[in-house]
Amino acid sequence: MKDELDLYIRARYPLLWVVTAEEQRALQEIETLAQAQRKRVLLWSATVGLVNPATPDREDASRRDPLALLKTILDDKEAGLWVLRDFHPFLKDATVVRRLREIAFALGASQKTVILLGPVLKIPPELEKEVTVVDFDLPTAAQLQVKVDEIIAKLREAKRVDPSLDKRQQARLVQACLGLTENEASNALAKAVVQAGGVLSGAAVEAVTAEKKQIIRKSGLLEYYDNTELIDNVGGLETLKGWLRKRVRAFTDDARAFGLPAPKGILLVGVQGCGKSLIARSVANMWRLPLLRLDAGRLFSSLVGSSEENLRQAIKTAESVAPAVLWVDEIEKGFSGVGSSNVSDAGTAARVFGSFITWLQEKQKPVFVVATANDISNLPPELVRKGRFDEIFFVDLPSAAERTDIWRIHLAKRNRDPDQFDLTTLAMASEGLSGAEIEQAVVAGLYEAFDANRPLSMNDLLDVLNETVPLSTMMREELDALRAWAKQRARPASDREGRGARGEGRAS
Ligand SMILES: Nc1ncnc2c1ncn2[C@@H]1O[C@H](COP(=O)(O)OP(=O)(O)OP(=O)(O)O)[C@@H](O)[C@H]1O
Ligand SMILES: [Mg+2]
Repeated sequence: MKDELDLYIRARYPLLWVVTAEEQRALQEIETLAQAQRKRVLLWSATVGLVNPATPDREDASRRDPLALLKTILDDKEAGLWVLRDFHPFLKDATVVRRLREIAFALGASQKTVILLGPVLKIPPELEKEVTVVDFDLPTAAQLQVKVDEIIAKLREAKRVDPSLDKRQQARLVQACLGLTENEASNALAKAVVQAGGVLSGAAVEAVTAEKKQIIRKSGLLEYYDNTELIDNVGGLETLKGWLRKRVRAFTDDARAFGLPAPKGILLVGVQGCGKSLIARSVANMWRLPLLRLDAGRLFSSLVGSSEENLRQAIKTAESVAPAVLWVDEIEKGFSGVGSSNVSDAGTAARVFGSFITWLQEKQKPVFVVATANDISNLPPELVRKGRFDEIFFVDLPSAAERTDIWRIHLAKRNRDPDQFDLTTLAMASEGLSGAEIEQAVVAGLYEAFDANRPLSMNDLLDVLNETVPLSTMMREELDALRAWAKQRARPASDREGRGARGEGRAS
């Protein structure tokens, strides 16, 4: 943030809004910056009024009132930075908003800057053009390293560090803290120590990761996954898997040195239950990167705060754990309101969508986005324009050969030896079924056999298949529309022929 803030202050932007829950860390950076620019810093909060940290005993409680405060700023003749902590609640007052606007106009040419500092971003429409939002990033690995080293040194003094804790484990500990604020990181470490009976050991890595999962989930839209899926458990989809395999080392320094850009992301469009979410989960495993899932459906839910801020926060977290995979599942659900006027807040939807698109296209940090969608009618066309994703893949119903693969995977998953089954016959009998439906057929067959007290047989499975009406038959028209759409815009995720809804390719 420092460089960005420095630039805005020098360029005399009058009103800046720094969004962060890390007040102390932000204040430190602001103060360093003010020193370099030889400017005084004046701090305000509703409790103490206006304080000059250089003469802290002379706090001015008469300036607790926001309007009086703003008047003081307006009248002050000297250069300075006014940092207003948690000022956002006062922006409900129309007079305060108006005053801030006047300040913005008046300060434009001066050496005075007002910085609103707080965890919430809620800009009243009157101020939208006047306020510049500055992102305060979560601590970097280097910054967390300092903190973790400090904590370890203190624990060492108290003889509370397991002697076997080595440099490599310490580095993993720092990695585990990525995505947390400094405070959250030190709390998570403290908790790990307590859990381990008062000693810091290598086991703290798992404890901190578990804590991080909780913290990230609580903070809104993201979910942190650490047990992801093996790519070997995905049947078929060879083109897509090959594309991913080719990029296993794409986030290494070697790849940068070779002149390769970091991959941006892929969009997986396709039929329900054919492995889109499954692939998303396995990419992270294949590339050995952390996986974060963004709940696009909740993006606009009023229960979790303002949509713009939620997205901002989610992006910040993802970037702080980068290199990472950000999985945006069912993206069309999040952005279906964009451009349609029957949504109550189409303006916000469009704005949030706009900033997401911009981020997709321009992001600098190595966050690989895997977005999935199965309803193209709700997919905003801007999303599929060139430059947003590296590639758009179409995931169709599995071909016969792919179905053989999928039968093998799911029989093996349920501890059955796939070679004891006639997989070719099963593949033929399951034409038109999705991977999810094949999995369900295996489970249903197991129930039959279990109920009859005998081992699972071919007949159990074939009986189940006889009674199954595939979703693809019921949704024939949607499927055709999806395929027509994909033909124009997407690359097939597998290159084999012979797939189709039940009945296709047979004399029917
Ligand atoms: N290609 C496949 N190989 C192995 N298993 C599969 C495959 N496709 C689907 N499955 C099984 O079906 C389950 C559901 O699939 P998944 O959630 O990935 O589908 P999806 O394409 O995301 O569907 P939706 O559009 O409904 O979200 C998976 O967890 C997996 O067990
Ligand atoms: Mg899915």
